[in-house]
Amino acid sequence: METHVPRTVSSDDQSRVIRKGITAASSLAALSLPAVHAQGSDQIKLALIGCGGRGGGAAKNALSVNKGGAKLVAMADVFENKLNNALGSLKRDREVGSDVEVDENKFLGFDAYKNAMDQLRKGDVAIFTTPLAFRWVHFQYAIERGLNVFMEKPLTADGPSSRRMLALAEEAVKKNLKVGVGLMSHHSRHMQQLHQRIQDGEIGDLMLLRGYRMQGGSGACIPRHLTRRGNDLSEVMFQII
Ligand SMILES: NC(=O)c1ccc[n+]([C@@H]2O[C@H](COP(=O)([O-])OP(=O)(O)OC[C@H]3O[C@@H](n4cnc5c(N)ncnc54)[C@H](O)[C@@H]3O)[C@@H](O)[C@H]2O)c1
Repeated sequence: METHVPRTVSSDDQSRVIRKGITAASSLAALSLPAVHAQGSDQIKLALIGCGGRGGGAAKNALSVNKGGAKLVAMADVFENKLNNALGSLKRDREVGSDVEVDENKFLGFDAYKNAMDQLRKGDVAIFTTPLAFRWVHFQYAIERGLNVFMEKPLTADGPSSRRMLALAEEAVKKNLKVGVGLMSHHSRHMQQLHQRIQDGEIGDLMLLRGYRMQGGSGACIPRHLTRRGNDLSEVMFQII
């Protein structure tokens, strides 16, 4: 089904998107670029919301492309150890460590996303890499604050949240904000070319197409309820950890 959900950029392309002032090839981005920020340095400030595996990677991607063009100034998570681990790795990273200036801007808890985004100026970039349940909440606040966004897929898992995201996408368009979404393959030039060649009839009429992703297992495949040990975490925190 064709929707108006922002078209997406792969994680690999994320930094390119940010470097170009979020000229993301998205339905949202068929707009002129906004001023990066109203005043002050041209260096883009980044806030990372959700400091797990992908969050650390996304922050590194964002800092890598145009060295010195961006700096990470704030981080948010609900678990202190996750935030500190990600921060430690980023700071130790030879390539991007010098662009990590988080200092005291480490925020914990379910409101931490606000604190982190409050460290940004209009036109800066917030990165959302929490589990998907929080996407629309964080997106809504970013729009309110006039921030550009990179958010990892998936964005929604149900109808009501999808409708919220669609409505928020329209608000983002109205405010000329740029939104890049990490959705594998959409921006793969190889796949675009393959798609075009199929459209051009190179293999005749397509009767059946199956797509496979070949990779090892991932954490998401582990049935967590089976591995739960006795602990005092709330159900929500257990589902997140
Ligand atoms: N790992 C990948 O390669 C990859 C690739 C594409 C997309 N994604 C998506 O990116 C997201 C993150 O994946 P991950 O592998 O980094 O997971 P992860 O569990 O390693 O990291 C998620 C982080 O978000 C934190 N968090 C949870 N709720 C939060 C909240 N309300 N506010 C702030 N922080 C919160 C968690 O404590 C954790 O540190 C998922 O939606 C995943 O599907 C991951």
